Amino acid sequence: MFFTARYRLAACTTNMEVTIERILPGGFGLAHADDRTIMVALAAPGDRVRIRVDRVKGNVSFASIEEIITPSPHRVEPPCPYFGRCGGCDFQQMNYRAQLDAKAEMIRDCLRRLARIENIPDFQVTAAPDPWHYRLRAQWQYDAVRQRLGYFESGSRNVCDVAECAVLAPTLQNTFESLRALMTAGSLPDSRDFRAAAGNEGVSISPPVHCISPTVGEDSVLDSSVVRDISRTIQGESYRFNAESFFQANDGLLPALVEAALGDARGRTALELYCGVGLFTLPLARRFSRVIGVESDQAAAKFARENLAGASLTNAEVALRDVGVWLDDVKRHDLSRLSAESASALQGEIDFVLLDPPRVGAESRVIAGVLGLKPHTIAYVSCDPATLARDLKKLIVGGYRLASISAFDMFPQTHHVETIVHLVA
Ligand SMILES: C[S@@+](CC[C@H](N)C(=O)[O-])C[C@H]1O[C@@H](n2cnc3c(N)ncnc32)[C@H](O)[C@@H]1O
Repeated sequence: MFFTARYRLAACTTNMEVTIERILPGGFGLAHADDRTIMVALAAPGDRVRIRVDRVKGNVSFASIEEIITPSPHRVEPPCPYFGRCGGCDFQQMNYRAQLDAKAEMIRDCLRRLARIENIPDFQVTAAPDPWHYRLRAQWQYDAVRQRLGYFESGSRNVCDVAECAVLAPTLQNTFESLRALMTAGSLPDSRDFRAAAGNEGVSISPPVHCISPTVGEDSVLDSSVVRDISRTIQGESYRFNAESFFQANDGLLPALVEAALGDARGRTALELYCGVGLFTLPLARRFSRVIGVESDQAAAKFARENLAGASLTNAEVALRDVGVWLDDVKRHDLSRLSAESASALQGEIDFVLLDPPRVGAESRVIAGVLGLKPHTIAYVSCDPATLARDLKKLIVGGYRLASISAFDMFPQTHHVETIVHLVA
């Protein structure tokens, strides 16, 4: 009777059998037993499984599969030999159709439960043209002591040593093999991780290393002293960036993503919050008389300005500023850091605000700042349905109506999904 809840549950759930009801936001399979909610890793909807409870948090147990008793009709054999140990992919156990359905359900679940939206507009998750070998950006962890290069193991900081990654684009797989060859030769620089991005001119890597690929020869020599700039072309627009600044990892869906985010938006003034190197800023500048982007990363803001200049788009400017601080400035009518054209545009009506925050979503003061601007339309691009739903709830309470949803499978084989919603006043 002195057992803690954790031990009581562990004792009574050893070898417990459960059926996976559906996939939850976060990618876990949902099951119930003994009046408890159980989140099962690497499950498929309909699986009958024997589980082991790994940890307990409140009324929720987190479990892993010990044995598959009856496989879900959606279950497939994961092709990657590291699946289950490597923390990179958590959806390879489901066929691709089931992955897309699970992601649509995850989005609906968040909108219903967290944003309290009853009538969710119809939408589909647009499939990636290639659900494998799509990643054009990656972060590889390096354990110099154990000589391991790869990704963190799931739920740990141990590095899973990986020779081949099934979601890397071939050009990044070549670079990865070059780094592994340097590791074996004892000449890989000591760094906790390496970030890599592929572009038209080859691969940018941070920190930079001198790396001659054993498989592709001299072509893949990476500069040894600087992080190389590269570019990618999306819908005729050219974007320069490097391994240290954000750029979407999956090219295949980018034209459709940009089109969906902008829709038929056109007009006088558009704001773009968290603009990165300008993926949406350039197309916005072709549709609006004045565009103001806001970005806090110095390198990304510099690339965004150069990308606008490269496209001869002089009607847009990028403020190097934290979005929350920038919106506070605007609220106080402190427009002194902006050009006269942008300051004057901000004093008129705002037609369109596009925000694309990182996974944590937008701070409360950002949502309050956007509401204060009273834009006609808000486009929210999000890589996390839970924080999107949290922020949507505030925007809806603030007087906006959810007009449309679209979603894109930018990250096949993982539970991650990109969602775009449009709100109108
Ligand atoms: C998800 S990325 C989107 C970038 C761009 N829209 C794109 O798709 O390439 C988020 C961007 O927000 C920037 N960021 C993060 N927190 C910020 C903040 N508090 N204020 C301004 N920018 C921020 C990051 O540097 C990053 O470039």
